[in-house]
Amino acid sequence: MAQDDAFKKLVSHCKEYGFIYQSSEIYDGLSAVYDYGPYGSLLKNNIKEYWWKSMVQMHENIVGIDAAIFMHPKTWKASGHVDAFNDPLVDNKDSKKRFRADVLIEDYMSKIEAKMDKEVEKAKSRFGDSFDEAMFRQTNPRVVANMEKFTEAKNRLAKAMTDGDMADLKAMIEEYGITDPDTGSKNWTEVRQFNLMFNTQLGNIAGEEGKLYLRPETAQGIFVNFLNVQKTTRQKIPFGIAQIGKAFRNEIVARQFIFRMREFEQMEMQYFIKPGTQKDWYEFWKESRLKWHLALGQLDENLRFHDHDNLAHYADAAVDIQFQFPFGFKELEGIHSRTDFDLSAHQELSGKKLQFFDPGTNESYVPYVIETSIGLDRMFLATISQALVEEEVEGTDNSREVLKLHPALAPIKCAVLPLKRNDDQLTGKAREVFNLLKTSFNCQYDDNGSIGKLYRRQDAIGTPFCLTIDFETLENNTVTIRDRDTLVQERVAIDQLDQIIRDRVDMSNLLKAL
Ligand code: GAP
Repeated sequence: MAQDDAFKKLVSHCKEYGFIYQSSEIYDGLSAVYDYGPYGSLLKNNIKEYWWKSMVQMHENIVGIDAAIFMHPKTWKASGHVDAFNDPLVDNKDSKKRFRADVLIEDYMSKIEAKMDKEVEKAKSRFGDSFDEAMFRQTNPRVVANMEKFTEAKNRLAKAMTDGDMADLKAMIEEYGITDPDTGSKNWTEVRQFNLMFNTQLGNIAGEEGKLYLRPETAQGIFVNFLNVQKTTRQKIPFGIAQIGKAFRNEIVARQFIFRMREFEQMEMQYFIKPGTQKDWYEFWKESRLKWHLALGQLDENLRFHDHDNLAHYADAAVDIQFQFPFGFKELEGIHSRTDFDLSAHQELSGKKLQFFDPGTNESYVPYVIETSIGLDRMFLATISQALVEEEVEGTDNSREVLKLHPALAPIKCAVLPLKRNDDQLTGKAREVFNLLKTSFNCQYDDNGSIGKLYRRQDAIGTPFCLTIDFETLENNTVTIRDRDTLVQERVAIDQLDQIIRDRVDMSNLLKAL
């Protein structure tokens, strides 16, 4: 299936089965804002639980907080967001559409890459087994020329972004002949900085003084609470503070479904360390976070590290964990070595000391920080895009859509299905089994269709186990338990169900793999 088709299918699956809806859909929706439906919110909560437990429950030196979304406006001055949290904006004067200048240039670079890949593919099929791709890329004149173009654009873009050189971004758009992707127009405005923070106003203070921001990252709620948390939990360096919460960004280009939203959730952890130890901890957290993804069953080839070409104002090293989304490899999580930038800046602007006193050496210092930051919605998209599979059902002419989610993440752990909907004895017994299990797991009772249809529906929402209540159940108190992935059905006693399901869906199965 083409990438575009696979992505469209995923988006419509999310809507059809109650995972994600467009926000305010009855008013034609609000761009880049989404609501999570019944199964979506359960899956999202399970991802949160996996992250939270792996960070907070499993580390004696990491604690969690839940800071407010509104913060004192000076927070954002100190953090650099008021002055530097910008994207380069360019308008097309004909189509009246807004674009990010750097994204237009990246799209131009992707086209050059695609041309090179096409040359390679052509040569591969011409030369067969004897084809030496590395040699071909180094010697083929068209590939070499395109590689030079690509590298020149990449280096120039990185420099312009680091220097905040808007004029050069505009010059690149013109020199590369970049057009509005929808209309082909080259009629561009100048490129200018656009601040991504949403703002609002405190009710009782007029003007600039009362200006408040919706937080663009959760991290600052952690930094301003650094000393409160350290003192009240008696932590020593190194220690971490974790938080899950909403963040808001007025993104210029908001597309690709829940990949880039204006309101989203982050799961962030700031790890406070002794200055000078940042390289080791940076490597530690890179490996640890990759392991977290792999434990879920994410395929190795779908994940990769990507070092940042241009560092954010606060970082001395930064890497993304990229995931192969249906539209290509893109950032899923960031690991940043943030130095002492944030704590020092808050210390200076607030006039309050934000230092750690080391009783061992009798010295005080502003700790350095390694941050791990993952978008919950992006993690949701990565999880569901890898899980959604369309496959033939062995021994039949039928195919099925199945969400092969890790059982610990599945929204519904087991479905209780009577073999016949019109038989009071079967439906009564099925409700009895449902009532028995509902205090332990999210279960679903369903008698709304033939058993085949009921199985398909549970496959589509990723339910790992279906329990079928049949006539034998009435005789000997056993049910069949159907495994979503293997389709194998076992007959088991009702009084063993709780334990059997618990063993298979328990979150600790995932945590033990870390
Ligand atoms: N505190 C550091 C920070 O916020 P970031 O790279 O800007 O760093 C971290 O964001 C993560 O948040 C990203 O890796 C991504 O998963 C998620 N994220 C950022 N912007 C987003 C958006 N507009 N929509 C959804 N997720 C987003």
